[in-house]
Amino acid sequence: MDTKEVKILAIESSCDETAAAVVVNGREVKSNVISTQIPLHTLYGGVVPEIASRKHIERINQVIEQALDEADMGLEDMDAIAVTYGPGLVGALLVGVAEAKAIAFAQNKPLIGVHHIEGHISANYIENKDLKPPFLCLVVSGGHTHLVRVADYGKYEILGRTRDDAAGEAFDKVARAIGLGYPGGPKIEKAAHDGNPSAIEFTRPKVSDGLYDFSFSGLKSQVLNYINGAQMKGQVINEADIAASFQQTVIDTLCSHAALAIDEFGMDKFAIAGGVASNQTLRAAMEKMCKEKGVKFYHPSPILCTDNAAMIGAAAYYEYLAGRRDGWDLNAIPNLKLGEK
Ligand code: KG4
Ligand code: ZN
Repeated sequence: MDTKEVKILAIESSCDETAAAVVVNGREVKSNVISTQIPLHTLYGGVVPEIASRKHIERINQVIEQALDEADMGLEDMDAIAVTYGPGLVGALLVGVAEAKAIAFAQNKPLIGVHHIEGHISANYIENKDLKPPFLCLVVSGGHTHLVRVADYGKYEILGRTRDDAAGEAFDKVARAIGLGYPGGPKIEKAAHDGNPSAIEFTRPKVSDGLYDFSFSGLKSQVLNYINGAQMKGQVINEADIAASFQQTVIDTLCSHAALAIDEFGMDKFAIAGGVASNQTLRAAMEKMCKEKGVKFYHPSPILCTDNAAMIGAAAYYEYLAGRRDGWDLNAIPNLKLGEK
């Protein structure tokens, strides 16, 4: 197995991106096709699950064909078919799972179900060929905020998680409140460039009984209250200052939790992952913190931070090496927990 190339066709359809990729030996991306539905959902201010499922059905075959074409390979060349089977929107996940099962069955190939968050974490392996567990990883996406100790490939210990809104969700909600639209993360980041991060003092959210847990819904309320208060006083709202101050508060919170965990667990490697990890200000703050602590900092390129199938192929490779295979009863699990399998 060591000398043989393992080629995996990976499929991702858990939310609003229909994606397929061909990945060799977990770290060599031969193709990474992403068909985003963002412009479609923008009309409604957020992801509409029924529309997402329908669009996945319309696009999935084309996306897979393109991924194989770009890799200059056929289905017969694949060693396994991998697919995200949770967590995510059930209807959206089902499209990918049904497709992967059909291909694997028809081609008589092994089927590997992958946890979406495991995929986000594994995105770090693609461009950082030296990265090996153990390391700490902060996963910050639209649906999740997890501080994870990656003990080994496929072995995860969740140190902390959000008690309410995910970090990306907070970006999306605050963006909506200040009229920036969907998806909020990139829009807040852009608006924040022209703002002063110290203009408004929002309190850093704390969870009293969970050292590494997060809570972002209170911060979102603080922003809403600030906007309402200013409007009632007839004051002009400075969107850029709100965006910059909110963003800074989220970043400070994420950094302080990460720093605490690095010290506590004596880790020498720290990685970030998920859509919010593409935020340049967050990356710079994490990099600075890691440098001060003498810890090596890892992050995927922005295109591998947001949803994609290459990260699913990377995660699936290590599952493949561990001999993990799924049966034809593989189902979409919308609330799948990390490390449950
Ligand atoms: O990982 P992802 O593509 O999907 C989920 O698994 O949730 O993450 C999407 C989330 C959205 O909430 C989006 O607003 C946020 O990531 N995001 C960002 C940035 N780009 C995307 N948040 C902050 N800054 C960004 N540049
Ligand atoms: Zn994601």
